[in-house]
Amino acid sequence: MAHYVGAIDQGTTSSRFIVFDRSGSIVSVAQKEHEQIYPKPGYVEHDPLEIWRNTQEVIEQALAAKGLKPGDLAAIGITNQRETTLIWDRHTGKPLHNALVWQDTRVDPMVQDFARDGGYDRLRDKTGLPLTSYFSGLKLRWLLDNVPGAREKAEAGDVLFGNVDTWLVWNLTGGRRHITDVTNASRTQLMNLRDLAWDDDILRLFDIPKACLPTILSSSEVYGEATGLLAGVPIAGILGDQQAALVGQACFEPGEAKNTYGTGCFMLMNTGEQPYPSKYGLLTTVGYRFGQGKPVYALEGSIAIAGALVQWLRDNLGLIQASTDIEPLARSVEDNGGVTIVPAFSGLYAPHWNAGARGLIGGLTRYANKGHIARAALEATAFQTREVLDAMAKDTGIAVKELRTDGGMVVNELLMQFQADILDVPVVRPKVIETTALGSAYAAGLATGFWAGTDELVRNWAVDRRWRPTFEASARERLYANWCRAVERSLDWT
Ligand code: G3P
Repeated sequence: MAHYVGAIDQGTTSSRFIVFDRSGSIVSVAQKEHEQIYPKPGYVEHDPLEIWRNTQEVIEQALAAKGLKPGDLAAIGITNQRETTLIWDRHTGKPLHNALVWQDTRVDPMVQDFARDGGYDRLRDKTGLPLTSYFSGLKLRWLLDNVPGAREKAEAGDVLFGNVDTWLVWNLTGGRRHITDVTNASRTQLMNLRDLAWDDDILRLFDIPKACLPTILSSSEVYGEATGLLAGVPIAGILGDQQAALVGQACFEPGEAKNTYGTGCFMLMNTGEQPYPSKYGLLTTVGYRFGQGKPVYALEGSIAIAGALVQWLRDNLGLIQASTDIEPLARSVEDNGGVTIVPAFSGLYAPHWNAGARGLIGGLTRYANKGHIARAALEATAFQTREVLDAMAKDTGIAVKELRTDGGMVVNELLMQFQADILDVPVVRPKVIETTALGSAYAAGLATGFWAGTDELVRNWAVDRRWRPTFEASARERLYANWCRAVERSLDWT
């Protein structure tokens, strides 16, 4: 009898394999970072073969650490960095190019061209997304235009497109399944949100051959059996990582929201069974679809740079040695000393969608020291989250009662307190903060009967800590006004 469910969590900076028990607690985990490749300013790539190698390594390590065998797993789920775009040869399985990572901005000129006729929101009604460099569709178009021979082979069905979920399932099944789930497909800007199928008009507009696209399935069903290390284990759940966190945080009711603090920061609110259009710069996206049940939609506020700013202070400025050093450094001062950082490294995403924005550090005086910079870096994540939460409230009329948080940065208690203060909303951290992996494990376990239904998952969710707001309204709004002024200055820098 299998007592566990496994999850592959393939993120922007690392790959993980996590084994969960029935209560949703972690039994075993292994993690490995992969190389970030920056060939030119604005270009961000990953090596697909390294990602597949690392995935296999972490599976092996996590199983070995607890003496587990494939037969101990009832199923596995997959959750992944979304939008990152790959193409490979159907016959050899070899990638034709490095993966273009979601943060890569090389298709900006194409975005401007397509926006000339009909504006940046011309595809919003069908896809829920503005035209930007973020999504997969135009990245795929770039690969087909720039990799010699790729377009002809894609038209013949000999070259396949996928996001990381599709790439992993293809490899896990020994090249037998070329599929994706509705949540990942909703981030390509090629899928119609209402019928959950590839949209022929958009494919024609972007000049993308249908023959290279994967079949779109639900987020929770048995897609096939794994071969190799996990031989015989059903692959039964796929969710893009932010949607997986929504499921892992058990946000199954409309109006419930979570915020994941990773490389970037992504807030999603469950909006129920109809796509909910945004007027205030958010994305409409598929939240999840379990089997043949109705799809559940979400509004999303995507922030490109959160934890990545801390890594930048570590790697590019050498201000700290390890990411965890940021909190003590920020605590060495009482406040930000007037310093504000706007980390617009890939332009600004929600709610601005300003590709020309660039990062800035403002408010410097001779008084400012590295403690103030560290503090401003953490505050940048909290301020960006405030912008997104305000947009959610304006779009939906729903004031979030408390914000469920997860992801690597939520161990930072200074950030969590400041987040509650600047939102004026309580912030709650659950016991399991690996909610992306947990969400995909849940999807896989629901499909195979390991968990009976979402009620059981709601019961598994438990609070670790809650931070309550402490700021006076005047102090809160003064700080936020400073931030908004700095953002204004960062817009349209290029
Ligand atoms: O949309 C990008 C997102 O899926 C990446 O998430 O946590 O890997 O940075 P993360």
